[in-house]
Order: sequence, then C-alpha cells, then structure tokens
Amino acid sequence: MIVCSCNVLSDGDVKACLKPGPDCPRTPAQVYRCLGCSPDCGRCARTIRAIMDRALIDAGVEPIASCRRGCCPAALEKAAAEPRL
Ligand code: FES
Repeated sequence: MIVCSCNVLSDGDVKACLKPGPDCPRTPAQVYRCLGCSPDCGRCARTIRAIMDRALIDAGVEPIASCRRGCCPAALEKAAAEPRL
C-alpha cells in the first residue's frame, strides 16, 4: 500500500528500512533519508510513525513515547489499557 504519494513509498518500503541496530531510523525524517528521499507535503509522517511504532511493538520493544496527542496506535493501545476513573 502506498503511504507516501509524494515519494511513492509503500508500507513495505518503510518496513524494509527498519532493521534492528544503531542505524535503524528513529524518526520519520530518518526513514525518508534512509529511502533516499525527503518529505514534501508531510501528510504521511503520521502514518510512517505509526508503521514504525507497530514494527517496534511487533519486535517486543516499547515505542518511543514521542506522541503526546493520543493519535498514534501505541498511544491508543496504552490509553485503552489504562483504567478509567
Ligand atoms: S505524502 Fe509523503 S511527503 Fe507528501
């Protein structure tokens, strides 16, 4: 599935550059760089972040707590697990 129409990047392209190790991209900007492009409109950044978070969860690693808006899958899963007062 194409996730970045400006650079014609698929979710598979994003996942392919998320290799464990010190060179693994930590931000969407680093993913663009890893794939040899740069963001244009930026609309895909949230989707790329979500793919990165999902890959971390699938690898058993806690995602970086960078999202404070509660919009990303990791934040939604965490909010669903917390008891409501
Ligand atoms: S959709 Fe990715 S930079 Fe525009």
